[in-house]
Amino acid sequence: MANRLDKILSTMGYGSRKQVKELVKSGSVTVDGEVIKDSSIHVDTNVQNVYVNGEKIEYKEYVYIMMNKPRGVISATEDEFGHETVIDLLDDRYQGYKLSCAGRLDIDTEGLMIISNDGQLVHSIISPKKQVVKKYYCIVENVITDKDMREFEKGVVLADGYKCLPARLEKISDKEAFVYITEGKFHQIKRMFYARRNNVRYLKRVQIGGLELDAELDTGEYRELLEDEIKKIFG
Ligand code: URA
Repeated sequence: MANRLDKILSTMGYGSRKQVKELVKSGSVTVDGEVIKDSSIHVDTNVQNVYVNGEKIEYKEYVYIMMNKPRGVISATEDEFGHETVIDLLDDRYQGYKLSCAGRLDIDTEGLMIISNDGQLVHSIISPKKQVVKKYYCIVENVITDKDMREFEKGVVLADGYKCLPARLEKISDKEAFVYITEGKFHQIKRMFYARRNNVRYLKRVQIGGLELDAELDTGEYRELLEDEIKKIFG
């Protein structure tokens, strides 16, 4: 798809639209071997070769990133209290994209974050209507009971009276479980256990739809998703 040259270059970190205009005017940019002086032209980087100061640029309209979010980092684009955000962890080449997180994780929750500038995909992952299942690994304070499992299945009623959509609680050991939910209310899993007189001690998101967190990614690490992995989300 064709996009304005100034949009492409500013997204890729070559400066503001105004700075990019100057850069292009100075003769530093070629398209298919020809020096271009007008930054408002439309270019399709899938079929045309764009070079800046002799370096080929690889532009993608959409980026899809999988991150293993560490504790202590906020899953938002900015934080009013100055905490580090997942966007801060990304390389400079992603900073020009208008990225957002597909579903928030608490500051002390780890695991799978999908970060993208594809608003439609982000919305589809979050929307309860789409029923995309999010799987979490949890360690809790007290022993998980059969009654807890039944209550999760029925829909736990939180302290504020909200009745959660049915969820699955799969016990791994007395105090360890996988929880599967299709909605993402604030502190949802912590509040679900709290309503069952239990407390979450450790929480990690391990899967979104059919996409599992890459076990090769240490906390804080990330990589771009492959095309078939994006499809896997909606499975
Ligand atoms: N539920 C929570 O309580 N916290 C999270 O970060 C995600 C789900």
